[in-house]
Formats: sequence, structure tokens, C-alpha cells
Amino acid sequence: MKIVESQRPIERNIAMELVRVTEAAAMAAARYLGRGDKNLVDDAAVTAMRHTLGYVEMDGIVIIGEGVKDDAPMLYIGEHIGNGSGLEVDIAVDPIDGTTLTAKGLPGAISVVALAAKGSMHCPVDLVYMDKIVTGRVARDAIDINASVAENLNNVARAKGRSVSELTVVILDRPRHEQLLAEIREAGARIKLISDGDISASIQAAMPGSEVDLLMGVGGTPEAVLSAAALHCIDGAIQCKAWPRTDEERNTAMAAGVDVDKVYTTDDLITSDDVFFAATGVSSGELLKGVRYFSGGAQTQSLAMRCRSGTVRWIDSLHNFDRLHKVSFFDGK
Ligand code: FBP
Repeated sequence: MKIVESQRPIERNIAMELVRVTEAAAMAAARYLGRGDKNLVDDAAVTAMRHTLGYVEMDGIVIIGEGVKDDAPMLYIGEHIGNGSGLEVDIAVDPIDGTTLTAKGLPGAISVVALAAKGSMHCPVDLVYMDKIVTGRVARDAIDINASVAENLNNVARAKGRSVSELTVVILDRPRHEQLLAEIREAGARIKLISDGDISASIQAAMPGSEVDLLMGVGGTPEAVLSAAALHCIDGAIQCKAWPRTDEERNTAMAAGVDVDKVYTTDDLITSDDVFFAATGVSSGELLKGVRYFSGGAQTQSLAMRCRSGTVRWIDSLHNFDRLHKVSFFDGK
């Protein structure tokens, strides 16, 4: 049988190249930490990310980006990116997950890119929000988004050999989660509320040895797909369902062909094992350290994951701005 190029396993560990992209975005955005301006943060990250992605040897198509062509000058959905040679791949970007965190100088903002074999990244773009449940390898078969909160907690506790009071659930701190919080408290689990950043929280919920066991609640749809890319690499699991805010949103999604009752699993969102994920800390959080400056340079911490090998790397980098300037458009400033 003749194997067409797009069906061959991707041998190159592109995650290592993607780390340079998230490092550049994080360094560009971190200059605006605490300045109170989300747009400055986002613009800096998007510009740095777009330029650095342009050097990666690939013919990538943006599946999750900054919006549609007319609203977003760059990294818009459907845009081709990369140097146009080599592999055909799908790309999802979140130049900063936690723009508000960065603008306020709060912990936990990261820059994120995921890449997968062409045609294997699926984002129900007509949905703004999805209801999510996430956990790691040990309890991946114990979760069911259609079951009650108490049932999920009991099943995860059993799978992990602990009591419910020894589980920690991370949740975005939003008024929409009032009922969910009450049910988790009633069941007796511990809760960690975060103000933003559910990609980082999803990874923490699935990472072996983490203090967090589950993520529950409603967050962004693109963030669900980016989380799924990371979770696929580390054998974690996400289940999510449409969470339309209004009847109009529900009807628009349905008219666009979205099944609003469907449970989307990791395998629905990412349908290939050729998946690569990279993230760099912008402001220091529990998953990654943020950007630290020193005279003439900066230090970053990143994660690089490859699904086929299951390897997760923490990469600490020192960047020399003067030398960087000679080899790249990006000089860290
Ligand atoms: P941004 O950095 O793009 O603003 O996203 C932050 C975030 O907290 C995501 O991690 C999360 O999925 C989403 O916002 C939740 O949306 P909302 O703030 O509208 O509840």
C-alpha cells in the first residue's frame, strides 16, 4: 500500500520547535505584566507568536486562532502558517491563556500552541463555552459528565484509592458555578478556585503527582481543544458538552450543525496520535514559572509534550537578547 505523506507518523518532535514560539510570545507579553492593559499583552504575544511560527518548517492551517479573518489581523482561523514546506498540520494557538492574569500581574498565565496531523483537530467553533470535566490517567475511566457531581467524585476517589475529602477540584471562580460549588462542598471534596486559565488547570488535573485531581465547570471552547491536545499526550481525559448561554446561541450552534447534546471526549477533539503541545509560563504559577529578566536577557520555563512517545519535558531556557537579535527578528524586547 502506498502511504501518502499526510498519513505517515510525524517523526520530528515539533514540540521542541514550538517551545521557541511560546517562549517568544511569553517574553514579549511578560513585559506588560501588571500594566492593566489586556490588549497590550495580547498584541505583543500574537505578534511574537505569528513571526516565530512563520519559521517552523510546516504548512500549517490555524484551526484555533484569534478569530475570523476580518476581525483578526493575524493568526485567524483558516490562515496558513509556517514556512510552507514539509508537513501539513493543524495548529491551535492561545498566545496568552490568562490575559487578565497578566494585565493584573496575577499568577498562572501561560502561552500555548498545539499542533496535530492535518484534519485531526476538531473545534466546535460556534460554541463560546463548554461544560468540562478533566482528570488524569488513573481516573480517566471514572468520569462521566452526564453523571452527578457526587457520583463523579465517588468514582474518582475509588479509582485513586482515596476518600472524597482527599480529592481537590479546580474550578473557575464564576457566578455560573454556584450550584456546582455547592454540590462539591456537599460531597466533601476540596476546592481550588482560580480566576482564569483553565488550560493550565486542566493539565494540572491530569499531571501525575499534582495537588489537583479534577477540573470541573464551564470554560472556553478553544481552551477545551487546546487542553485535549495536552491531555492526549499525557493520557489524561476531558469530557465536555455545549454550554449555550441563551436560546439564540443554542439555535445558532444547532443551525451550524453542532450537536448540543453530544459529549465530546479527548478522542473527538483530537483524532490523531500525532499531537504536539508546548506552553511557556508568562506569570509564575503552579504549573510553570513566569518570565524572569536579568541584565541583557531573560529566563523562561516551558513544557513540551509529544503524544506518540508520551514524553513530557520541562525546559528552562536562558535568553541572551543581544545575540538573539542577530539570529532572529525577535530580540526578546
Ligand atoms: P483569556 O486569557 O483568553 O481571557 O482566557 C482566560 C480564561 O480564563 C480561559 O482559561 C477560560 O477558558 C475562559 O477565560 C473562561 O471564560 P470567562 O472568563 O468568560 O468565564
